Amino acid sequence: MNDARALAAQALDQVVRGGVSLRSAFTEVAPRLADPRDRALVSALLHEGARWWLRYDAVLGRLLQKPLRGREPVVHALLVVGLVQLAVLGLPEYAAVAGTVEAVRALKRPQLAGLVNAVLRRFLRERAVLDAAVAADRALATAHPPWLVQQLAQDWPDDIDAILAANNAPAALVLRANRRRTTPAALVARLLDAGHAAAVHAWLPDAVVLDDSTDVTRLPGYAQGEFSVQDGAAQLAPDLLDLRDGLRVLDACAAPGGKSAHCLERHALDLLALDRDAQRLEPMRDNFARLGLNATIAAGDAADAASWWDGRAFDRILLDAPCSATGVIRRQPDIRLHRRAGDIERAAAEQAQLLDRLWPLLRPGGRLVYATCSVLPRENAGQIATFLARTPDAQARDLVPARFGRAAGSGRQNLPGVDGMDGFFYAVVDKAA
Ligand SMILES: C[S@@+](CC[C@H](N)C(=O)[O-])C[C@H]1O[C@@H](n2cnc3c(N)ncnc32)[C@H](O)[C@@H]1O
Repeated sequence: MNDARALAAQALDQVVRGGVSLRSAFTEVAPRLADPRDRALVSALLHEGARWWLRYDAVLGRLLQKPLRGREPVVHALLVVGLVQLAVLGLPEYAAVAGTVEAVRALKRPQLAGLVNAVLRRFLRERAVLDAAVAADRALATAHPPWLVQQLAQDWPDDIDAILAANNAPAALVLRANRRRTTPAALVARLLDAGHAAAVHAWLPDAVVLDDSTDVTRLPGYAQGEFSVQDGAAQLAPDLLDLRDGLRVLDACAAPGGKSAHCLERHALDLLALDRDAQRLEPMRDNFARLGLNATIAAGDAADAASWWDGRAFDRILLDAPCSATGVIRRQPDIRLHRRAGDIERAAAEQAQLLDRLWPLLRPGGRLVYATCSVLPRENAGQIATFLARTPDAQARDLVPARFGRAAGSGRQNLPGVDGMDGFFYAVVDKAA
């Protein structure tokens, strides 16, 4: 079976019910689609289906007399895929409806073809009423889980609508030029030559912004390691770490290696890239090889130094901590389907433990940079405030550029979409000499 919509429905069902990540779900179906246009369609259906699931699942609740979710979950997912084609992607009505009816046959459910046709046509007739019904509920209207909307309303009462809107808006593709191989200006020239609208970032020293999203592996210079994909908000680490050649650096949560690579592109470092997830190390090795970088890569739990540390203190530690990822929902829409309210406290406890266990590994006079892609103060300003309160030799430094986000306790917080960047938090903490 290679029907694009049917494959998208199966993959979306895997994401929603199976807890599979969008990335893995797409990686699994992509090889079954020979035509790049089909691959692009499945990618769009899958991403927008996950982004808008919570809204169109509720709309289906109003359109179906008997719910399909329990009995025919893949057809239920196909109906969401159908609604997304009409309401989000703006595909021509005839093509969207006929294609979705065809897909239900490809799923070997021809007996449901009439139902699929009728539901999609009813949506088109009653759309205004259905839209008005969900508009009254902020969580449904913006397709976010209620717990997250409540949390954001508490944490960011003046910004919540902007955050929810940014999570549903497209994000620009941002590259990081590999300083060892090129410059941002030379990379832009090369991309423009190849017909891609690209520009050097207004203030980040290594960033290049592309207007359209595209398969980056086909862009000129990719194979030669001239660039990587990395949101602008993630490109602050080397400057905040105040690196110099020869420093001994620990990237405690390194995979897939974006920030480690950036540091190594800038300086010749004795860098240990550690990650607990051994499966994420192989792609990191491949990536370092493509970019021409050298580091020690190791699997290990950063909170259990005895299992991997040789006892030599680090000059710098980057703790890009595991977090709720609530700042990158626009790029990873499945986060809203997979996170639960209880995950936040668990993540905060893990972050606190990592801070406490890594601190003794830093030499006196050394620096730790704490980063998350979360927008929740519990994981960010609040986390750093309690760490500082219990760590007498730790002193926060006010070094994150004022152009980045806004002051948040001892660090700075960017909210998603602000300055075109992801939601991100940084704090810089120095150890007394
Ligand atoms: C936010 S990601 C890191 C992104 C990475 N710094 C980059 O820029 O590409 C968090 C990583 O932390 C790892 N991780 C979580 N807990 C860990 C622990 N206790 N020790 C080491 N790594 C951990 C996860 O496997 C995940 O790869």
